[in-house]
Amino acid sequence: MKREHMRIVGSVMLIVFFLVAGRISAAEATKKQSPQVARGKYLVTIMACNDCHTPLKMGPKGPEPGMTRMLSGHPQEMKLPPPPAPAGPWIWSGTGTLTAFAGPWGISYAINLTPDQNTGIGIWTEELFIKALRTGKHFGTSRDIQPPMPWPWYGKASEADLKAIYAYLRSIPPIKNLVPDYEPPKAATP
Ligand code: HEC
Repeated sequence: MKREHMRIVGSVMLIVFFLVAGRISAAEATKKQSPQVARGKYLVTIMACNDCHTPLKMGPKGPEPGMTRMLSGHPQEMKLPPPPAPAGPWIWSGTGTLTAFAGPWGISYAINLTPDQNTGIGIWTEELFIKALRTGKHFGTSRDIQPPMPWPWYGKASEADLKAIYAYLRSIPPIKNLVPDYEPPKAATP
């Protein structure tokens, strides 16, 4: 009798589990397909965020964005020698991945825009994200955001568009990739 009772309880729990799990995945699916996320995906595409935040790799027709590392920034395993000395009007240089840039501003690395908790924008709030793009300040408050990140242009986007970009970035697969910190020009470091 007791065993019978347990069996019934067990089956009920299983049914409840599947019902709840079904609900959650349905909610996830609608979240992913929400008009805001779709708009964000469109904006990220046409505003060319992938150009610098997705590393280029060599394909059969030449360099192409490595979409398995979509928007994960400068590859952490790519250790770089010092940049070449600038000569004449050629004052900046970049890596073949188009993720690291050396110039009068020092060396900047395209950051990890995926929602990874420790290496991406996992801890960034919507407010902080928008503030960074509007003010050109790292994290919305500290040092200046360096070239070639086109924040002066993106900062002019509407509130709704910036929110959509943020919502989309939160919905993409998180990729663990620790991008090096920005390095100021040698002369500027004490
Ligand atoms: C031309 C190259 C380029 C493009 C295009 C680009 N970025 Fe960046 N981005 C960078 C670089 C380089 C950095 C690092 C700058 C630094 O360390 O100061 C950066 C930094 C950032 C940061 C960090 C800001 C902070 O507070 O430190 C965010 C957020 C960001 N990009 C979002 C975007 C989004 C969203 C798009 C598309 C709408 C985009 N980027 C397009 C190059 C680019």
